[in-house]
Amino acid sequence: MNQSLADMIVDVPDFPKPGVVFKDITPLLASASHFRMAVDLLAAAAPEGIDVVVGMEARGFMFAAPVALELGAGFVPVRKPGKLPGDVYSQAFDLEYGSETLTVHRNAIDPGARVLVIDDVLATGGTVGATAGLLSQMGAELVHVAVVLELEFLKGRELLAARGIHRVTSLVRS
Ligand code: PRP
Ligand code: MG
Repeated sequence: MNQSLADMIVDVPDFPKPGVVFKDITPLLASASHFRMAVDLLAAAAPEGIDVVVGMEARGFMFAAPVALELGAGFVPVRKPGKLPGDVYSQAFDLEYGSETLTVHRNAIDPGARVLVIDDVLATGGTVGATAGLLSQMGAELVHVAVVLELEFLKGRELLAARGIHRVTSLVRS
């Protein structure tokens, strides 16, 4: 648990709706030293031989792209529907109310590629789980997941474990 990074994530009560405590990472991003630290630690969590770093729209992009550069790997965006121009794979997942879908370009990752998945927050695990589904449709290998913040009470790690995803690193836990 990295207390220096934890101190740069601000709790915002009742955002975006009453009863929810939003975790605001923008102070961490705005601090050059903390942003650098987070990117370095996420990159350090990766095993050797990562071919591609995948980040999920929107906040995942902020960490995944610099991690890809640091590792000398490519970056592939997972996006919300209607944003990617080419042929896509889609994966739906459940939210508290309703569902969400994520998409990725079908030809973006070669079968067998070793993929690191990076997002800002692991909460219920729905986002990472859907991304794992997209990678499996492509025949790519999800070798590691790394996030800045894990909200342990939402048990995302357990949902991922139930799907066979055990290699998950979080820099801050709350
Ligand atoms: C947020 C966060 C993670 C996700 C975690 O994304 O950035 O991607 O929720 O929640 P989960 O583990 O329950 O799926 P969100 O789509 O809300 O917003 P964003 O577009 O700003 O990233
Ligand atoms: Mg997100």
